[in-house]
Amino acid sequence: MAEQRLCRLDALVEGQSKGFMLRPDARYADLIVVRTACGLFGYRNRCPHTGAPMEWETDRFLDISGTLIQCGIHGALFRIEDGYCLSGPCARQSLQAVTLIERDGWLLVDMDLEQRRS
Ligand code: FES
Repeated sequence: MAEQRLCRLDALVEGQSKGFMLRPDARYADLIVVRTACGLFGYRNRCPHTGAPMEWETDRFLDISGTLIQCGIHGALFRIEDGYCLSGPCARQSLQAVTLIERDGWLLVDMDLEQRRS
């Protein structure tokens, strides 16, 4: 299993999102992670509408209320808990979830699993 460290768990603030670049040549984040009171949720940073990255700015993936993921291009809104699109041009589609691992104070992603899914 090829796990990759993303960050220390205490670097993720409840109610905020963070993007992670996995490729050395990436121009945009590859993964989105959001921490809520219910835990950590991770998705590929790829909007189901066009496949484009969704951040408004670096690490900004949430709508103004902080309760939904919002695509910065055409505004599609996704539930944080399961990535389901509630409204927008890709309504009823979902973000692609990634497998997050919390261990010894670190957040990791299982790259083998992610590569098989992509
Ligand atoms: S690219 Fe995300 S809503 Fe169009």
